[in-house]
Parts: sequence; C-alpha cells; structure tokens
Amino acid sequence: MTGEKTENAALLIDRVRKAALEYVQQHSYAGHDQTHTIRVHRLSRIIGKKEKADLLILEVAALLHDVGRSYDQLNHAEKSAEIAEGLLRECDFPLDRLPQVLYAIRIHQFSRGVKPDTLEAKILQDADRIDISGAIGVGMTFAYGGAKNIEMYNKDDPLARDRELDDTKYVLDHFQTKLLKLPKTIHTKTGRQLIRKRWRYLRSFMSQFVREITATN
Ligand SMILES: [Fe+2]
Repeated sequence: MTGEKTENAALLIDRVRKAALEYVQQHSYAGHDQTHTIRVHRLSRIIGKKEKADLLILEVAALLHDVGRSYDQLNHAEKSAEIAEGLLRECDFPLDRLPQVLYAIRIHQFSRGVKPDTLEAKILQDADRIDISGAIGVGMTFAYGGAKNIEMYNKDDPLARDRELDDTKYVLDHFQTKLLKLPKTIHTKTGRQLIRKRWRYLRSFMSQFVREITATN
C-alpha cells in the first residue's frame, strides 16, 4: 500500500471506529458493550498483521461485528451486517470492498457454525472467540447470566456429571457447552497461540470454583 493509501485507510478506520463505538455503547447488551468491540478490534489487528490480512476490511468488520447484538440474539450477525452497511455508506466506505466486510460480519457468529472462506472472516471469528475466553470470558459469562437471572451453578451436580448440560439454567454449564470448546474452532496459527493461555486459565478457574463449592473444611 502506498503512503497516501495507508493514510486514507487509517482515517477511514478512525471514522468507522467512532461511529461503531458510539452505536455499540447506545445499544450495549449484557457484557457485550463497547469494551468488547475495542478488544476484538485490537486482537484482530494483532492477528491480521501476523497473518498478512487486508487490515482495512478486517478492522472495519471487527469494529462493526456486534452492532446488531441488542436487536436479535439468535441471528445477531445478520442484523449487524444490515446496520453495518448503513453506517459504512454514511462513512463513504469504498463500495467495492463492502461485500468482504459484510461477509466477515455475517459469518462470525459461533452458533451458526459456519466455516469462513476468507482470511479476514477467519481472523474475525478467531478474535471474537479469543476475547470471550480467559478472564474476560469468565466476566462476560457471569455478566450475561446476571442480566438473564440465570443461577450460577447446579448445587447437586455443578459439573453435570449425571445430568444434561443446560446453560439457560446454569452459568457454569456455559463453560462446557461453549467456552472450553473454543480452541478447536480457531483457524489461524496466531489465534491458536493466543487462546492457549486463556484456555488454561478457564480450566483452573473452573477447578477452583468447584473446590470452593464443595469445600467441607
Ligand atoms: Fe463479538
């Protein structure tokens, strides 16, 4: 990229960043506030630079990936893409690059289970999943559980050894239904390196949590 092009891209990203953060803050949803967007953007940049991605497409997709979060939990990625398109047109984003940004946003959602075709979409999925792992993942999971009035754990069987996991009833179950499975879904080498330490933290948090529940002396 030439110097002028790089400068234009930086200005454009900055404009989108302001619009995205303002939007997310006004529509934040149980732990998915503007700080999640800021972290996913930062992680995307870190991975994107190492994996040689198109940073304009990646950064803009990261900044806008959750703008639809508060409207439609089940299909928030589709809603985010719809809102992102409007915001990007207002920011004079180049129309020829819009489809790649919208594709990455549309496909990032974990529950859709779709494997992306582009490097930028793979990195956005990685960054989003790395951010909800580790200590931040613990914080976001309990913030969501609190907002939904979900019990922290099943008192008789906290690790669900003899019952079906149900994270709509118990926050701790979400570690097994989703968080601990995330490393297997990471696409990039850089992403795998970043999630490893967080995964180990999640395991140790769970062990300590259960130790404290079951302590007898
Ligand atoms: Fe996200």
